[in-house]
Amino acid sequence: MTDSAPSLELTNLEPTAADMTAQVARGLSNSQKTMPSAFFYDEPGSALFDEICRVPEYYPTRTELAIMAASLPEMAAAIGPEALVIEYGSGTGLKTRGLLSALERPVGYVPVEISREFLMTSAEALQAEFGDLEVLPVCADFTEPFEVPKPSKPAQRRALYFPGSTIGNFRPEFATKLLRQMRDEVGSGGCALIGVDLVKVTQTLEAAYNDAQGVTAKFNLNMLRRANAELGADFDLDAFRHRAVWVQERSAIEMRLYARRPTAVNLGGKRFTFLEGEWIHTEDSHKYTLEAFASLAQQAGFDVDRVWTDDDKLFSVQYLLAR
Ligand code: TRP
Repeated sequence: MTDSAPSLELTNLEPTAADMTAQVARGLSNSQKTMPSAFFYDEPGSALFDEICRVPEYYPTRTELAIMAASLPEMAAAIGPEALVIEYGSGTGLKTRGLLSALERPVGYVPVEISREFLMTSAEALQAEFGDLEVLPVCADFTEPFEVPKPSKPAQRRALYFPGSTIGNFRPEFATKLLRQMRDEVGSGGCALIGVDLVKVTQTLEAAYNDAQGVTAKFNLNMLRRANAELGADFDLDAFRHRAVWVQERSAIEMRLYARRPTAVNLGGKRFTFLEGEWIHTEDSHKYTLEAFASLAQQAGFDVDRVWTDDDKLFSVQYLLAR
């Protein structure tokens, strides 16, 4: 149970500080230093991400929202009545609200989210808005298999909702594994509705992740601030700068934190040193062609049944059927 919402039954698999310290230390021990991307989403991080979604250069959110707005009735009809909607990463629920309102008598909503405060706040808000809907929040890292809570009213069908092109934040092999996990969670005959960002000109891609206001930079650097505050690290925040780079060979934007000068950090009894110009790789955002994504879905046991895009083919929302 939780202090913040005695009315909602929370499944709590939140990682401990010791787990996180070990995970962060492991990443910093690699020859290419990394930080775990789940670490972005504490409360300030989630709020900053919300802000990213509104900067003018960041086209994915508004484009996906427009695609949803234009085709919600078709999407809802494809999913059908009395569905149990499982969402990976609950966000602020703007897209979710649209989907839940369009669906015919959905029986339950299972948001799965690593940031517990954020999860509970949005779960409570949704519960208040959708009185008949059973909201069953799960605080967990959705990349690990978890038990889907059972709604009291049996569902006709399970539908996995995964907007925001979060699928792009995983290496293709891992994305396949995650899609396979989703496929297993919805079962044969279940479905998924997934937002997938598409390949486009480099300038548009890089601008989206290097916004002029510096919100993405703040979001990326927040990871170091958080490591200092929660894991007792001593990153010199001023010694790092954010830069997102399009890496053609990987069809991915790489989020990086470059050392402006030689620097070092102590964490969990270890010391990690940085040369000037060395970077921590904090996140990937893979971009797909429709063909490439269809082949990924296939390998995971899904068939792409329908694809909705905007006129400029910037972004896609894909309806997948579990074989
Ligand atoms: N799913 C989002 C994307 O890949 C996540 C994201 C947007 C992100 N901006 C970011 C992740 C900046 C890390 C850093 O577009």
